[in-house]
This record gives sequence, C-alpha cells and structure tokens, in this order.
Amino acid sequence: MAAFARKGTILTALLLVFLMATPALSAKKYLFKTCEQAPFCRRNRAYADLAESNGAAWDPPYAIDPSTVTFDSGVLQGTIVKAVTDPTGAPSTVEFPFQLAFLESGSARFVVDEKQRVQSPIPGFPEGLTQRRYNEASKWAVTGDLTPDISAVESTTDDERKNDIFHVRYGRDRHFEAIVQSKPLQITFYRDGETHVILNDRGLFNIDQYRPKPADPTSLGDALDVKDMWEENFGGKEDKKPKGPESIALDVTFPDYEHVFGIPEHADRFSLRETRGGDGNHDEPYRLFNVDIFEYEVNSPMAMYGAIPFMQAHKKGSSVAIFWANAAETWIDITKKKPNPEAFGVRKSTQTHWISESGVMDLYVMLGPDPSSVYQQYGLLTGFTALPPIYALGYHQCRWNYNSEEDVLEVDANFDLYDIPYDAIWLDIEYTDGKKYFTWLKSMFPTPEKMMQALDKRKRKLVTIIDPHIKKEAGYKVYEGLSKSELAVKTDSGEEFNGWCWPGESAWIDTLNPKAIEYWKDQFKLGKFCGHESNLLIWNDMNEPSIFNGPEVSAPRDTVHYGNWEHRDVHNVYGLTFVNATVQALQARHPRHRPFVLTRSFFAGSQRLGAVWTGDNAATWDYLKIVTPMLLSHSIAGFSFVGADVGGFFGNPTSELLTRWYQAGAFYPFFRGHAHIESKRREPWLPGEPYTSLIRTAIRMRYQLLPSVYTAFHRASFDGVPIVRPMFLLAPDNEDALGIDDQFFFGETGLLVKPIVEEGATSTEIYLPDEEIYYDYLDQTIYQGIGYKHIDAPLEKIPILARGGHIFVRRDRYRRSATLMSHDPLTLVVHLDKNGNAAGVLYLDDGETTAHSRGVYLHRFFMFNAQDNILRSRSMQASSAFNKSFEKSIDDVRIEKIVVVGLDLGKLKNHAVEAFQDRKSWSTDIHITDVAAGKASVVTVRDPKVLVTGDWSIQF
Ligand code: NOJ
Repeated sequence: MAAFARKGTILTALLLVFLMATPALSAKKYLFKTCEQAPFCRRNRAYADLAESNGAAWDPPYAIDPSTVTFDSGVLQGTIVKAVTDPTGAPSTVEFPFQLAFLESGSARFVVDEKQRVQSPIPGFPEGLTQRRYNEASKWAVTGDLTPDISAVESTTDDERKNDIFHVRYGRDRHFEAIVQSKPLQITFYRDGETHVILNDRGLFNIDQYRPKPADPTSLGDALDVKDMWEENFGGKEDKKPKGPESIALDVTFPDYEHVFGIPEHADRFSLRETRGGDGNHDEPYRLFNVDIFEYEVNSPMAMYGAIPFMQAHKKGSSVAIFWANAAETWIDITKKKPNPEAFGVRKSTQTHWISESGVMDLYVMLGPDPSSVYQQYGLLTGFTALPPIYALGYHQCRWNYNSEEDVLEVDANFDLYDIPYDAIWLDIEYTDGKKYFTWLKSMFPTPEKMMQALDKRKRKLVTIIDPHIKKEAGYKVYEGLSKSELAVKTDSGEEFNGWCWPGESAWIDTLNPKAIEYWKDQFKLGKFCGHESNLLIWNDMNEPSIFNGPEVSAPRDTVHYGNWEHRDVHNVYGLTFVNATVQALQARHPRHRPFVLTRSFFAGSQRLGAVWTGDNAATWDYLKIVTPMLLSHSIAGFSFVGADVGGFFGNPTSELLTRWYQAGAFYPFFRGHAHIESKRREPWLPGEPYTSLIRTAIRMRYQLLPSVYTAFHRASFDGVPIVRPMFLLAPDNEDALGIDDQFFFGETGLLVKPIVEEGATSTEIYLPDEEIYYDYLDQTIYQGIGYKHIDAPLEKIPILARGGHIFVRRDRYRRSATLMSHDPLTLVVHLDKNGNAAGVLYLDDGETTAHSRGVYLHRFFMFNAQDNILRSRSMQASSAFNKSFEKSIDDVRIEKIVVVGLDLGKLKNHAVEAFQDRKSWSTDIHITDVAAGKASVVTVRDPKVLVTGDWSIQF
C-alpha cells in the first residue's frame, strides 16, 4: 500500500514536471483556488453581501468598548468587543485588543489581536503549536523605526467624548488626524481637514474568534457558512486547520479616489479594476498568495509568485496609501461607487475589502500628500531598494540552460565577437549534479573556477541558481546536515516535511530559523562553493515555495516553521526569508562587496535584498505588453529593481518580437534575456540582420544610460522614488493620465518610453501628460500639448520622448561590461524646458563595494539657467575625506561632451562657449545642427575640458 502511495506521488510529480515544462495556452487554473474555493474568502465575501443587502440597517457585531480606550505617548489603545453566541446559544463576547500608533515616520499603525488565543494550546495537536495569531509579518517586512510620535496629541472635544469618539492629531504640524468612532466601529483619517482613508466604512471588519472544533460543526448553523472551517480539502489535499477558522477582514474606503494601484503581483492593468463583475471588471478578488504559476494568464487577478499588500490611491492634488502587513493568503475586492456625492465631490470612491486567512490585523496608513511622500513613508517602514552593484544594471544573459563550460565561454566570446556588452551569464538548474545545489555536473563543468576566472578577465560575473528545495539523498552533505540539525520545514507532527521538486523528493530549508540562516551561510563559504571566486552572484527561484505535489503547487498549510508557526501564517513571507539568508551568505562570503540576488518570490520589504523578475511569461506579444503595467505596479509598491524575461520564457519569439522585447528591456530596471529549456537558442546574434544590429543598439543604449540608471537607483535607495515611473509622478494633476500604463518615465532622465508591443507596428501614439515641451530623443522633433502624439516607430526605432527640463549623464564609449566603463568620460545631455531651464543629478561611486555607505561617492547637481545661459555643476555633498578619496580615484574622468537640446540660438553669444573651473577660464568651440522645421536646435560642446569632480560653469 505504502509503495503504491509512493508510486502515485511520483506519478503526480512527474505529471506536474511535464505540465511545467510544456508550453501551454493558459495557466493551469484548476490548480489554484478561486475565492469560492477558499472558505475564509467565500465567507467574508458573503458577509460583505449581507452588509450590502442590509444597507443602512446593517448592524455589525463589533464595537469599541469606550471605557477601555486610553491615549498615551502617541498610542491610542483599547478593546474591540464582538457580540457572539456561545455554543449553548447564550449571548457572549470576544475581546480584541487594539492599538492605533502614530509613528514618528508619519504613518499610523492599526494592530488588532485576539485576547483569548494568546498562547493557549490546541486540543489534540502537538505541544508547541498554540492558538495564538501570527504577529511577525511586520518583523520581516518592516525594518524601519516604529517609535510612536510622542508629539501626537489627543484633541477629543467634549461633544466627541459624549458620542464615544476619540480624536488624535499627528504628523508634521499635526496636519493629519484620526477620528476613532466606537459604534459603529470606524476610523477615519484626515489630512488638512479632508477625509482620505476610512477603515470599516462599510462595516466589514470581521475576525474569526477561536472556537475548538465542535463534534458536529453543522450544529453551529449555517448563517455565515460554517463549511470547511475546521478542515479543508483542495484537489485531494487535506488541510487539518488546527487553529480552526482564524480569518481577518477589513474594508478600507478611499473617498473621492477613483484610481488605486499596487498590490503586486498580478498580470493586470496598473490602475486596479473592480472585482465584483461588470464590463471590463473581474469577478474574482485580486489574490495575494505566492504560487508557481507557470505561464500565467494575462489580465487576471490570479495570484502569482510574489505579494506586496501595499495599495496607493491617487487623485489630483493627493496621494495616500495603506500597507496590510499580513503574510497569509489574502484576497482584495475592489468596487468603485459614489456613496455620498455631496460629501465627497464628483469622483467615485474606491472601496476595498481585505481578507486574510490568519494572523493579527496589522495595517499602516500613509497620508502622503503626494506620490513621493507616500514612497518615502512606505520606505521608512519597509526599507528602500538596496543600491545594486552597477554591473547588476547591465545586460544579463540567461537560458535554461548553458550546458557546459565550453558553452558558457563560447556565448561569452560571441558577445565580444558581435560587439555587444553584457555583464553576467547565468546557469540554470542543469549545472548541478542531479539538481543538488552547491554541486556541479562534473562531466559538463569540470573546472567551474577556471571558467569563472575566464569570465572575470573581462569583468563579467557568473550567476548560479540555488533553490530552497534540498534533495533528500543519502550522502548529499547539504541535505544530511540540514536533516541532522532539524533545520527543514516540518510536518504538523514534527517530522521533516518532504515533497517533490526538480530533484525529486526534497526537504525545504526553513529560513525563518536563525540557525538555518547560519547553515545556509556556511554553504556559500569561500573555498566551499565556487572556490574563492568573487564574481559569483545568485539566483533564488522556486521560493514561493514551489512544491510539485503540494496543494496549489506549494507547501501544505499545516506544515510548521521555526517558532511553531504554521505555513499558512508565513506563506507569503517565506520567499523573502530565503533570499534574506542568501544575501547574508553572500555578504559573509565577501563582506566588502554588495551582493546580488535575484528572486522570484517576494513580499513587502524584499526590495531591500535584490532584484525580482516576473516569472514564466511566454514569447507572445500579449506577454510583452503586460510587462509595462506589471513593472509599474511593482515599482510603486517599493520594488524598483524589477524586470521580465526578455524574449519570453516559453516558446520561440519571432525575430521582430525578440527585437522589440530587447528595445523594451533596455529600459527594464533589471534587464535579462531568458528562455525555457525546450525553446530554440536565441542569443542576440542568432536572429541575424537587421535584428542583431537592432538588438545591439538597444543593449548599447542601456549601457550608455548606465550612469543615469545608477543615479536613479541611488535616489530610490534613499527616498523610494522608483526607476519606472507612472505618469502621475511627473504630472500628478492630470487625472486623464491615471489609466495610462503602456508608457513610463525612466528614472531621473525625463525620458518618456513607450515600448512597441504590437506586431508589425511602424508608429505609435505617445500621451503627453503635461504642457512641458518634449523632444523626440533620437531626432529632436518637438511635441507639446497634453494628449496623444503620433510618433513614427519603424523596427529600428524605440519611441522615446525627452521631457524638457532634465539633465542626465551618459557614457557613450562601447565597453564589454559595465565595470570596464568606470573611468570612461561622460556626456551631459540637457533638454531645456519651455522656459529654457533644466536640472539633473549624477551619482557615482566605485559601483561594487560598500564604501559608498561611508560617504565614498560623488554626488553632483547640474543646472542650466535660462536667465544667464549658464550651465553649472555643483556638489551635493559636504566635503569629507571619504568623498575626496573617491574624487581622487576618478580625477581622470572628463566630461567629454555636452549636448544641449532646445536652446534659443538667438541667445548664443558666439560659436564658442566659455568654461570656468578652478579659477581658470577657456573657450571651446561648439557645433550647432541646422534647425529643421518642427525640430529643436542641438548645440554640442565637444571636449569642454571640465572634470566631473569639481564645480564649474559654462557660459553659452
Ligand atoms: C522556473 C523559473 O521561473 C525559470 O526561470 C527557470 O528557468 C526554471 N524554473 C528552471 O530553473
């Protein structure tokens, strides 16, 4: 019988491997739950329907007991009481202590726990597993300061007190307010007297209190649908649910906001759709549950590999956001209504309903007032994008698989043969001996270190994949150590949990456990894996975790992690903990180097650790098209370092699609070509001419822009403003642009990029969101005026408009890799705004080490002033020994060219400019292009002889 069961498991696993390896038309939808199939979602949706159908008569059972409320040192706390009937039918109550903390960082945090669950054992389950609710999602996601702001004041009026209402003013100048109403329970957030966020506006706050499993669950009646509360079965997989039902739910209204964004990861539009049916809407809520959704559907609210429960609402004059810090399966319904047109103006309001399977309620409210303030507030909580090493911003060449050392070195050589730069070559799972990570398939990779040294000669890196499943095999040291020290995820009875993934039967390292992190670090030690080589980077895949024979291709929810937390509680954060361990391992390996780790699974806070990509897409135009809205969603939810498989993972792109994908990919923050094992080889030189040349041009364009890409990352690393920017970041008042998600602004450059995502397209329409002047980046044609502009876009052209007012920096020399460019001269590109002004920033450091954190960098500000026609360079940092030392190391870096677009030639004094630096001055010739009709002037100063390190001015 046991043998039969095992055979069955093997067959299931093989079937899944087959399904995953075979290109299909759409995701295997049946493998993943709908809301109806997730009992807690179904019940809370039904609860919402009940509330809606009751209208004003809806009388939810929750209220704050006003006698419990206190306010002290920036925290309002008390108890929410739920009226229930006990099993005998007698009225009873359940208590939910809450805290509303007003944080120094400007956010408010609302936490609700359940009093009776704390630490009580669960009858019939092993010791250690208690009823308590998981409360550590914030521990993983939030690294920022959670100190309450003691300057927040309670300003409850007598009238409010009489009505059991509490009122707190907080934030800078106390221009934020929170009004907490006891019954009906409601918390309303105001900024400058205007309502922006309402919690429990519709009375959908709901928490499943602890109830031991009754002998006959149906005895509880079915008013709220008790089916599946203590046991579930999905796809033949049983979930024992030892803690019984423990869902939490809350509705959040953004009054007068018609557009909300965020909650990645979904392959859907940027402006989130309604989810309760209707034309163009979804029927299902957006789901956040990290799953291996190979070849996902586009335009779908289905769950994908990662989850960031962050949502931003934006309208003219205001941006606000919430962060639902919960790591369990979460569903979000969205509806848009005009609940009270008189009170809230003319726009619809967005109503959202957040439903999680378990955990405490832990919600952060950020009141903006503008998008950059929201990103700053969110970053102060969950951390900012780690500043990547500069080579990580170059082009990455990946494929499942490069099969041998010869293969790797031949691909490497071909890049040089075809004069195409790249920075890292990637090895997928086949490099290992039997998918045992930290081993090599010796027949194909006999001397990996030599191979790495050969790559290093051209300053290139090797990325190897390392997944969290560890093959269960006697003699495999990594497994034996893991198993012996009991650092793997466990079953609910405390045994090592085993499931199936690439290597066959495997265990999963439990990286929630600090000891497991130490164990992981040990595997990467110098001399142990890849010898002492320093050009090793890591790719963490399958970390949702993907388990071929598990429910929804993942871990059973009743498996147990460190701290005796069930997998259901930590599911969405597991992927982050795994990357965290890998990052720590790389830091321990080379303490002075910034690590690079790519992850597929992620949670809020993962941006601190590395890059992410959007998983298994396909080589079709639809998948190319969905990338832009996906990048926008990740970006505004704090995850700037994001990309998608260029070329499409499954299938074979036509040469045209491949070319267009490279042209788009050159502007993805993370730029990597990747392909499925069954697809044809498609390295840039394979499609032949004209495609290879066009791909070369696109990749080289990325390398030219690297100083600016790096500068934008530097900004993201301290204030959270993303690289891929939606229209509302530069044109926050244009509400017509809120739904536009097929174009984006690129970093600090002011470049407005519109990837071509249609077969055979020779032109496109770019929407100008403001009245600024825009120049075609390639031919300087002028466009102005809000609205769509027709732009030619034959295959050889990437449609890019440069917004006036920005100065950015390029490195125009071709080199084989990013690191080799570090001493190259710079080109300053100035696009003047409609008033003739422009400004920009440059950030430079050694690109690789952690010295920048001690101030070893250069940060300069450039400004072109229309009044005196002078371009100035000024330092943005206080002078210190550290930045002086960096300046010294790059004192050979010249500005070799300055290109000014849009200058009024009548204002030019003569055909030369006067440069001033270090109390010296000299004149330099300029070159002026003929100004054709409809085009801007281009004035080029060749070799102005100014250095990047000092202050200087150039008089035009
Ligand atoms: C799934 C990943 O999404 C894909 O990129 C990778 O090639 C395969 N796993 C094999 O490792």
